Amino acid sequence: MLEDIDTPALLLDREKLERNCLRMRERLRSHNVALRPHVKTAKSVEVTQTALDAATGAITVSTLREAEHFFGRGFRDILYAVGMVPAKVARVAELTRRGANISTIVDSVEGARALMQACDKAGVRIPTLVEIDSDGHRAGIAPGDKALLEVAEVLGDSLRGVMTHAGDSYNCATTDAIRAVAAREREAVVSSAAALRARGHPSPVVSVGSTPTATFAESFAGVTEVRTGVYMFHDLVMAGLGVCELDDIAISVLASVIGHQREKNWLITDAGWMALSRDRGTASQKVDQGYGLVCGVEGRPLEDLIVVESNQEHGIVARRDGGAIDFDRYPIGKLLRVLPNHACATAAQHSRYRVIDAGRVTQTWDRFAGW
Ligand SMILES: Cc1ncc(COP(=O)(O)O)c(C=O)c1O
Repeated sequence: MLEDIDTPALLLDREKLERNCLRMRERLRSHNVALRPHVKTAKSVEVTQTALDAATGAITVSTLREAEHFFGRGFRDILYAVGMVPAKVARVAELTRRGANISTIVDSVEGARALMQACDKAGVRIPTLVEIDSDGHRAGIAPGDKALLEVAEVLGDSLRGVMTHAGDSYNCATTDAIRAVAAREREAVVSSAAALRARGHPSPVVSVGSTPTATFAESFAGVTEVRTGVYMFHDLVMAGLGVCELDDIAISVLASVIGHQREKNWLITDAGWMALSRDRGTASQKVDQGYGLVCGVEGRPLEDLIVVESNQEHGIVARRDGGAIDFDRYPIGKLLRVLPNHACATAAQHSRYRVIDAGRVTQTWDRFAGW
Protein backbone atom coordinates (compact mmCIF):
# COMPACT_ATOMS: atom_id res chain seq x y z
CA MET A 1 0.00 0.00 0.00
CA LEU A 2 1.24 3.52 -0.76
CA GLU A 3 0.08 4.50 2.73
CA ASP A 4 2.71 2.17 4.19
CA ILE A 5 5.79 3.80 2.68
CA ASP A 6 7.70 6.76 4.04
CA THR A 7 7.48 9.97 2.07
CA PRO A 8 9.00 11.41 0.03
CA ALA A 9 9.48 8.38 -2.21
CA LEU A 10 10.04 7.81 -5.92
CA LEU A 11 7.23 5.83 -7.52
CA LEU A 12 7.52 4.03 -10.84
CA ASP A 13 4.34 2.96 -12.59
CA ARG A 14 5.26 -0.31 -14.24
CA GLU A 15 2.43 -0.33 -16.76
CA LYS A 16 3.40 3.10 -18.09
CA LEU A 17 7.08 2.16 -18.17
CA GLU A 18 6.29 -0.95 -20.20
CA ARG A 19 4.03 1.00 -22.54
CA ASN A 20 6.65 3.70 -23.17
CA CYS A 21 9.35 1.10 -23.76
CA LEU A 22 7.22 -0.98 -26.10
CA ARG A 23 6.23 2.08 -28.11
CA MET A 24 9.87 3.09 -28.71
CA ARG A 25 10.95 -0.47 -29.51
CA GLU A 26 8.14 -0.89 -32.01
CA ARG A 27 8.72 2.48 -33.63
CA LEU A 28 12.43 1.81 -34.16
CA ARG A 29 11.75 -1.75 -35.28
CA SER A 30 9.32 -0.45 -37.89
CA HIS A 31 12.12 1.82 -39.16
CA ASN A 32 14.56 -1.08 -39.13
CA VAL A 33 17.04 0.66 -36.83
CA ALA A 34 18.55 -0.71 -33.62
CA LEU A 35 17.81 0.69 -30.17
CA ARG A 36 20.74 1.27 -27.83
CA PRO A 37 18.90 2.64 -24.78
CA HIS A 38 20.63 5.27 -22.69
CA VAL A 39 20.69 4.09 -19.08
CA LYS A 40 21.56 7.50 -17.64
CA THR A 41 17.93 8.34 -16.83
CA ALA A 42 17.00 5.18 -14.97
CA LYS A 43 20.39 3.88 -13.71
CA SER A 44 18.57 0.66 -13.01
CA VAL A 45 19.13 -2.80 -14.44
CA GLU A 46 15.46 -3.75 -14.12
CA VAL A 47 14.29 -0.64 -15.98
CA THR A 48 16.85 -1.26 -18.74
CA GLN A 49 15.76 -4.89 -19.05
CA THR A 50 12.22 -3.59 -19.53
CA ALA A 51 13.48 -1.20 -22.22
CA LEU A 52 15.28 -4.01 -24.04
CA ASP A 53 12.67 -6.66 -23.31
CA ALA A 54 15.70 -8.87 -22.61
CA ALA A 55 18.09 -9.68 -19.78
CA THR A 56 20.97 -7.83 -21.47
CA GLY A 57 21.72 -5.98 -24.67
CA ALA A 58 23.54 -3.01 -26.15
CA ILE A 59 23.37 0.09 -23.95
CA THR A 60 24.58 3.68 -23.79
CA VAL A 61 26.05 5.04 -20.56
CA SER A 62 26.93 8.52 -19.35
CA THR A 63 29.36 7.48 -16.59
CA LEU A 64 31.91 4.74 -16.13
CA ARG A 65 30.10 3.85 -12.93
CA GLU A 66 27.10 2.93 -15.11
CA ALA A 67 29.38 0.92 -17.40
CA GLU A 68 30.87 -1.00 -14.48
CA HIS A 69 27.53 -1.58 -12.79
CA PHE A 70 25.83 -2.88 -15.93
CA PHE A 71 28.86 -4.95 -16.93
CA GLY A 72 28.61 -6.61 -13.53
CA ARG A 73 25.06 -7.58 -14.41
CA GLY A 74 25.97 -9.16 -17.74
CA PHE A 75 25.82 -6.23 -20.17
CA ARG A 76 28.77 -6.43 -22.60
CA ASP A 77 28.07 -3.99 -25.44
CA ILE A 78 28.46 -0.52 -23.95
CA LEU A 79 28.88 2.93 -25.52
CA TYR A 80 30.28 5.51 -23.10
CA ALA A 81 28.77 8.62 -24.74
CA VAL A 82 30.59 11.40 -22.92
CA GLY A 83 33.91 12.76 -24.23
CA MET A 84 36.78 10.50 -23.22
CA VAL A 85 39.92 11.66 -21.39
CA PRO A 86 43.22 9.78 -20.83
CA ALA A 87 42.68 9.50 -17.07
CA LYS A 88 39.66 7.24 -17.68
CA VAL A 89 41.50 4.81 -19.95
CA ALA A 90 42.52 2.55 -17.06
CA ARG A 91 38.88 1.89 -16.08
CA VAL A 92 37.78 1.33 -19.67
CA ALA A 93 40.81 -0.92 -20.26
CA GLU A 94 39.93 -2.98 -17.20
CA LEU A 95 36.38 -3.54 -18.50
CA THR A 96 37.79 -4.42 -21.91
CA ARG A 97 40.16 -6.96 -20.39
CA ARG A 98 37.28 -8.53 -18.51
CA GLY A 99 35.38 -9.01 -21.77
CA ALA A 100 33.37 -5.83 -22.29
CA ASN A 101 32.95 -4.43 -25.77
CA ILE A 102 33.07 -0.80 -24.66
CA SER A 103 33.41 2.15 -27.04
CA THR A 104 34.17 5.77 -26.26
CA ILE A 105 33.78 9.10 -28.05
CA VAL A 106 36.07 12.03 -28.91
CA ASP A 107 35.44 15.29 -30.76
CA SER A 108 38.88 16.79 -31.41
CA VAL A 109 42.29 15.95 -32.81
CA GLU A 110 43.77 16.83 -29.43
CA GLY A 111 41.35 14.51 -27.61
CA ALA A 112 41.98 11.69 -30.10
CA ARG A 113 45.78 12.02 -29.76
CA ALA A 114 45.61 12.02 -25.96
CA LEU A 115 43.35 8.98 -26.02
CA MET A 116 45.58 7.05 -28.43
CA GLN A 117 48.70 7.82 -26.40
CA ALA A 118 47.02 6.65 -23.19
CA CYS A 119 45.77 3.50 -24.95
CA ASP A 120 49.26 2.73 -26.29
CA LYS A 121 50.67 3.14 -22.80
CA ALA A 122 48.01 0.87 -21.32
CA GLY A 123 48.42 -1.65 -24.15
CA VAL A 124 44.73 -1.55 -25.04
CA ARG A 125 42.70 -0.65 -28.11
CA ILE A 126 39.44 1.14 -27.39
CA PRO A 127 36.92 1.38 -30.24
CA THR A 128 36.01 5.05 -30.58
CA LEU A 129 33.32 7.10 -32.30
CA VAL A 130 33.72 10.69 -33.41
CA GLU A 131 31.09 13.00 -31.99
CA ILE A 132 29.41 15.20 -34.58
CA ASP A 133 27.70 18.48 -33.68
CA SER A 134 24.35 18.36 -35.49
CA ASP A 135 22.78 21.45 -33.92
CA GLY A 136 25.30 23.68 -32.15
CA HIS A 137 23.89 22.42 -28.87
CA ARG A 138 26.98 21.27 -27.04
CA ALA A 139 29.90 19.20 -28.27
CA GLY A 140 31.13 17.67 -31.49
CA ILE A 141 32.75 18.43 -34.83
CA ALA A 142 30.53 20.30 -37.29
CA PRO A 143 29.55 18.29 -40.38
CA GLY A 144 31.94 19.12 -43.22
CA ASP A 145 34.74 20.27 -40.89
CA LYS A 146 38.07 18.83 -42.04
CA ALA A 147 38.89 18.03 -38.40
CA LEU A 148 36.76 14.90 -38.81
CA LEU A 149 39.24 13.35 -41.23
CA GLU A 150 42.18 14.41 -39.09
CA VAL A 151 40.61 12.72 -36.06
CA ALA A 152 39.99 9.61 -38.16
CA GLU A 153 43.68 9.51 -39.18
CA VAL A 154 44.71 9.71 -35.52
CA LEU A 155 42.27 7.00 -34.43
CA GLY A 156 43.29 4.64 -37.22
CA ASP A 157 41.72 1.25 -36.76
CA SER A 158 40.21 2.28 -33.39
CA LEU A 159 37.68 4.33 -35.37
CA ARG A 160 34.21 2.77 -35.20
CA GLY A 161 32.06 5.49 -36.69
CA VAL A 162 30.16 8.63 -35.75
CA MET A 163 27.52 9.70 -33.26
CA THR A 164 25.50 12.81 -32.44
CA HIS A 165 22.96 13.96 -29.89
CA ALA A 166 20.39 16.50 -31.06
CA GLY A 167 20.00 18.30 -27.75
CA ASP A 168 18.41 21.26 -29.49
CA SER A 169 15.29 19.13 -29.85
CA TYR A 170 14.45 19.97 -26.22
CA ASN A 171 14.08 23.64 -27.15
CA CYS A 172 11.64 23.22 -30.03
CA ALA A 173 8.29 25.01 -29.98
CA THR A 174 6.50 22.64 -32.37
CA THR A 175 6.63 19.04 -33.45
CA ASP A 176 7.48 20.24 -36.98
CA ALA A 177 10.53 21.93 -35.50
CA ILE A 178 11.50 18.63 -33.81
CA ARG A 179 11.12 16.86 -37.18
CA ALA A 180 13.47 19.41 -38.73
CA VAL A 181 16.03 18.90 -35.92
CA ALA A 182 15.72 15.13 -36.43
CA ALA A 183 16.37 15.50 -40.16
CA ARG A 184 19.48 17.59 -39.41
CA GLU A 185 20.59 15.05 -36.81
CA ARG A 186 20.39 12.21 -39.33
CA GLU A 187 21.94 14.18 -42.17
CA ALA A 188 24.87 15.28 -39.97
CA VAL A 189 25.98 11.75 -39.10
CA VAL A 190 25.10 10.09 -42.39
CA SER A 191 27.10 12.69 -44.36
CA SER A 192 29.99 12.47 -41.89
CA ALA A 193 30.10 8.68 -42.17
CA ALA A 194 30.05 9.01 -45.95
CA ALA A 195 32.98 11.46 -45.83
CA LEU A 196 34.95 9.00 -43.71
CA ARG A 197 34.19 6.06 -45.98
CA ALA A 198 35.15 8.09 -49.05
CA ARG A 199 38.62 8.42 -47.50
CA GLY A 200 38.85 4.71 -46.78
CA HIS A 201 37.85 4.78 -43.11
CA PRO A 202 35.26 2.12 -42.37
CA SER A 203 32.50 3.70 -40.31
CA PRO A 204 30.17 0.88 -39.33
CA VAL A 205 28.43 2.79 -36.52
CA VAL A 206 26.16 5.74 -37.30
CA SER A 207 24.48 6.65 -34.04
CA VAL A 208 21.84 9.27 -33.21
CA GLY A 209 19.55 9.83 -30.31
CA SER A 210 17.30 12.03 -28.26
CA THR A 211 13.79 11.15 -27.22
CA PRO A 212 12.10 14.01 -29.16
CA THR A 213 13.94 13.28 -32.42
CA ALA A 214 13.52 9.51 -32.09
CA THR A 215 9.80 10.08 -31.58
CA PHE A 216 9.25 12.36 -34.57
CA ALA A 217 12.02 11.55 -37.09
CA GLU A 218 10.59 10.73 -40.51
CA SER A 219 13.63 8.74 -41.63
CA PHE A 220 16.48 6.81 -40.10
CA ALA A 221 18.03 5.91 -43.46
CA GLY A 222 21.76 5.35 -43.04
CA VAL A 223 21.51 5.36 -39.24
CA THR A 224 22.53 2.13 -37.49
CA GLU A 225 21.35 2.80 -33.93
CA VAL A 226 19.27 5.16 -31.80
CA ARG A 227 20.18 6.09 -28.23
CA THR A 228 17.19 7.24 -26.19
CA GLY A 229 16.82 7.49 -22.44
CA VAL A 230 14.16 9.70 -20.98
CA TYR A 231 11.37 8.08 -23.06
CA MET A 232 11.27 5.18 -20.57
CA PHE A 233 9.79 7.49 -17.93
CA HIS A 234 8.91 10.65 -19.86
CA ASP A 235 8.39 13.87 -17.88
CA LEU A 236 6.73 17.29 -17.96
CA VAL A 237 9.33 18.68 -20.36
CA MET A 238 8.55 15.88 -22.83
CA ALA A 239 4.82 16.47 -22.35
CA GLY A 240 5.35 20.21 -22.96
CA LEU A 241 7.12 19.36 -26.22
CA GLY A 242 4.22 17.16 -27.34
CA VAL A 243 6.45 14.06 -27.20
CA CYS A 244 4.15 12.34 -24.69
CA GLU A 245 0.89 12.83 -22.81
CA LEU A 246 0.79 13.61 -19.09
CA ASP A 247 -0.65 10.15 -18.64
CA ASP A 248 2.53 8.59 -20.06
CA ILE A 249 4.75 9.93 -17.26
CA ALA A 250 5.82 6.83 -15.38
CA ILE A 251 7.62 8.34 -12.38
CA SER A 252 6.31 10.60 -9.66
CA VAL A 253 7.32 11.64 -6.18
CA LEU A 254 4.99 10.56 -3.42
CA ALA A 255 4.65 13.36 -0.84
CA SER A 256 2.66 14.03 2.32
CA VAL A 257 0.83 17.25 3.11
CA ILE A 258 2.60 18.55 6.22
CA GLY A 259 1.04 21.99 6.61
CA HIS A 260 -1.50 24.59 5.50
CA GLN A 261 -0.84 28.31 4.95
CA ARG A 262 -4.46 29.34 4.58
CA GLU A 263 -3.95 33.07 4.12
CA LYS A 264 -1.42 32.38 1.35
CA ASN A 265 -3.38 29.54 -0.24
CA TRP A 266 -0.45 27.18 0.10
CA LEU A 267 -0.17 23.55 0.97
CA ILE A 268 3.19 22.54 2.39
CA THR A 269 4.52 19.06 1.58
CA ASP A 270 7.57 17.04 2.58
CA ALA A 271 8.85 16.88 -1.00
CA GLY A 272 11.26 19.77 -1.47
CA TRP A 273 14.10 19.96 -3.95
CA MET A 274 15.94 17.06 -2.31
CA ALA A 275 13.11 14.86 -3.55
CA LEU A 276 12.11 16.73 -6.72
CA SER A 277 15.44 18.28 -7.83
CA ARG A 278 15.75 21.99 -8.63
CA ASP A 279 15.09 21.41 -12.32
CA ARG A 280 12.91 24.11 -13.89
CA GLY A 281 12.93 22.70 -17.39
CA THR A 282 9.35 23.78 -18.12
CA ALA A 283 10.08 27.45 -17.23
CA SER A 284 10.81 28.21 -20.88
CA GLN A 285 7.86 26.21 -22.24
CA LYS A 286 4.31 27.35 -22.97
CA VAL A 287 3.08 25.85 -19.68
CA ASP A 288 5.40 26.46 -16.74
CA GLN A 289 4.89 23.59 -14.30
CA GLY A 290 6.91 25.16 -11.46
CA TYR A 291 8.83 22.39 -9.69
CA GLY A 292 6.23 19.79 -10.64
CA LEU A 293 2.58 19.11 -11.34
CA VAL A 294 0.61 17.85 -8.36
CA CYS A 295 -1.64 14.79 -8.68
CA GLY A 296 -3.85 12.82 -6.38
CA VAL A 297 -2.50 9.59 -4.98
CA GLU A 298 -4.02 7.69 -7.90
CA GLY A 299 -1.92 9.81 -10.30
CA ARG A 300 -4.42 12.24 -11.86
CA PRO A 301 -3.65 16.03 -11.85
CA LEU A 302 -5.54 17.98 -9.17
CA GLU A 303 -7.30 21.30 -9.80
CA ASP A 304 -4.19 22.78 -11.39
CA LEU A 305 -1.97 22.54 -8.37
CA ILE A 306 1.77 22.92 -8.95
CA VAL A 307 4.81 23.09 -6.72
CA VAL A 308 5.48 26.83 -6.91
CA GLU A 309 8.53 26.87 -4.65
CA SER A 310 10.85 24.29 -3.19
CA ASN A 311 13.12 24.39 -0.15
CA GLN A 312 15.37 21.53 0.80
CA GLU A 313 12.70 19.36 2.43
CA HIS A 314 9.59 21.50 1.89
CA GLY A 315 7.50 21.85 -1.22
CA ILE A 316 5.13 24.80 -1.50
CA VAL A 317 2.03 23.88 -3.47
CA ALA A 318 -0.43 26.43 -4.84
CA ARG A 319 -2.98 26.70 -7.59
CA ARG A 320 -1.45 27.84 -10.84
CA ASP A 321 -3.84 30.81 -10.93
CA GLY A 322 -3.14 31.67 -7.27
CA GLY A 323 -6.79 30.89 -6.45
CA ALA A 324 -8.31 29.53 -3.26
CA ILE A 325 -7.41 26.00 -2.17
CA ASP A 326 -10.09 23.80 -0.67
CA PHE A 327 -8.00 22.85 2.38
CA ASP A 328 -10.56 20.28 3.56
CA ARG A 329 -9.55 18.13 0.59
CA TYR A 330 -5.94 18.07 1.76
CA PRO A 331 -5.73 17.24 5.46
CA ILE A 332 -2.34 16.89 7.12
CA GLY A 333 -0.88 13.51 6.16
CA LYS A 334 -2.76 13.33 2.84
CA LEU A 335 -0.68 11.72 0.11
CA LEU A 336 -0.05 13.52 -3.16
CA ARG A 337 2.05 12.64 -6.19
CA VAL A 338 4.25 15.14 -8.03
CA LEU A 339 5.09 14.65 -11.71
CA PRO A 340 8.69 15.74 -12.45
CA ASN A 341 9.92 18.38 -14.87
CA HIS A 342 12.98 16.34 -15.76
CA ALA A 343 12.91 12.63 -15.01
CA CYS A 344 16.72 12.24 -15.03
CA ALA A 345 17.16 14.96 -12.40
CA THR A 346 14.32 13.85 -10.14
CA ALA A 347 15.24 10.16 -10.25
CA ALA A 348 18.83 11.16 -9.40
CA GLN A 349 17.63 12.36 -6.01
CA HIS A 350 16.57 8.82 -5.02
CA SER A 351 18.27 5.50 -4.38
CA ARG A 352 15.35 3.24 -5.29
CA TYR A 353 12.13 2.98 -7.22
CA ARG A 354 8.95 1.86 -5.55
CA VAL A 355 7.38 -0.03 -8.40
CA ILE A 356 3.62 0.20 -8.53
CA ASP A 357 1.23 -2.06 -10.36
CA ALA A 358 -2.44 -1.00 -10.37
CA GLY A 359 -1.76 1.49 -7.57
CA ARG A 360 0.00 -0.98 -5.25
CA VAL A 361 3.71 -1.16 -4.49
CA THR A 362 4.78 -4.59 -5.68
CA GLN A 363 8.59 -4.30 -5.82
CA THR A 364 11.55 -2.12 -4.98
CA TRP A 365 14.19 -1.63 -7.66
CA ASP A 366 17.58 -0.12 -6.75
CA ARG A 367 19.05 2.75 -8.65
CA PHE A 368 22.61 3.96 -8.20
CA ALA A 369 24.47 7.25 -8.44
CA GLY A 370 27.98 8.57 -8.78
CA TRP A 371 30.69 8.43 -11.38
C1 LIG B 1 25.00 11.62 -25.84
C2 LIG B 1 23.57 11.38 -25.54
N1 LIG B 1 22.89 10.45 -26.24
C3 LIG B 1 21.60 10.19 -26.01
C4 LIG B 1 20.89 10.88 -25.04
C5 LIG B 1 19.46 10.51 -24.80
O1 LIG B 1 18.57 11.57 -24.90
P1 LIG B 1 17.08 11.41 -24.33
O2 LIG B 1 17.17 11.27 -22.87
O3 LIG B 1 16.39 12.64 -24.80
O4 LIG B 1 16.50 10.19 -24.95
C6 LIG B 1 21.55 11.87 -24.31
C7 LIG B 1 20.84 12.64 -23.29
O5 LIG B 1 21.34 13.55 -22.68
C8 LIG B 1 22.93 12.13 -24.55
O6 LIG B 1 23.61 13.04 -23.86
